[in-house]
Amino acid sequence: PNQSEANLRSPICCIMGHVDTGKTKLLDCIRGTNVQEGEAGGITQQIGATYFPAENIRERTKELKADAKLKVPGLLVIDTPGHESFTNLRSRGSGLCDIAILVVDIMHGLKPQTIESLNLLKMRNTKFIVALNKIITQFKEQGLNTELYYKNKEMGETFSIVPTSAISGEGIPDLLLLLVQWTQKTMVDKLMYRNEVQGTYLHHKEIKAAQGIKITAQGLEHAIAGTSLYVVGSHDDLEDIKESAMED
Ligand code: GTP
Ligand code: MG
Ligand code: NA
Repeated sequence: PNQSEANLRSPICCIMGHVDTGKTKLLDCIRGTNVQEGEAGGITQQIGATYFPAENIRERTKELKADAKLKVPGLLVIDTPGHESFTNLRSRGSGLCDIAILVVDIMHGLKPQTIESLNLLKMRNTKFIVALNKIITQFKEQGLNTELYYKNKEMGETFSIVPTSAISGEGIPDLLLLLVQWTQKTMVDKLMYRNEVQGTYLHHKEIKAAQGIKITAQGLEHAIAGTSLYVVGSHDDLEDIKESAMED
């Protein structure tokens, strides 16, 4: 064969993960097939291979506008079972592939066969991509439309999903930027300063809205954090205001 960078073979990609994380369903979704529902007990019991030609992939990735210049002729994807009794098949699958998809059911996290798959991939130093599955439809079941944040063009109608880690800090910059951009773009009215309920206190000449401040006063041990602050002006009825405060 012509050994050059311009003449590549199709990479082999193995799908691995714990039972019922949605490996076969993902393939069905890509293929436009319904293999999963035909499986006995919904359990994959063998290795299955599907070939995706480059034109298929180009079509399917159009919306990303990445204008993918595909150098490979396609992608051969191998489905593996996640059930614990099929370690041998997972081992074989992971031995065949150039790259892998590790599917994680986001509602269940990392389970024993996820870890087993991970160890098989690590052992062979196989590079892989993690697919976080199931989150979007569960929101749909609750009547919410969600979309990954960088694809969401109608924020408000559709809720944005930002994958984060509160341990490593991954995704936090994205989350913060999104909060700031979204509020300053769509909540301008709400965010404008208003004259009502501004106080002047001992150590501060002026406090702008939405700042945390410490209030020093008598009897504060009876106040509940988060309740409204009322300013009694010279024309106000103290009893009326007391009543409003108690209702809060
Ligand atoms: P094994 O091959 O047996 O390990 O399972 P699998 O990882 O191939 O999972 P499968 O495709 O059989 O899906 C398991 C169940 O999860 C099925 O009932 C699917 O319909 C369901 N499922 C898969 N993906 C999703 C998803 O994105 N959202 C929801 N709500 N359900 C899903
Ligand atoms: Mg399966
Ligand atoms: Na299954």
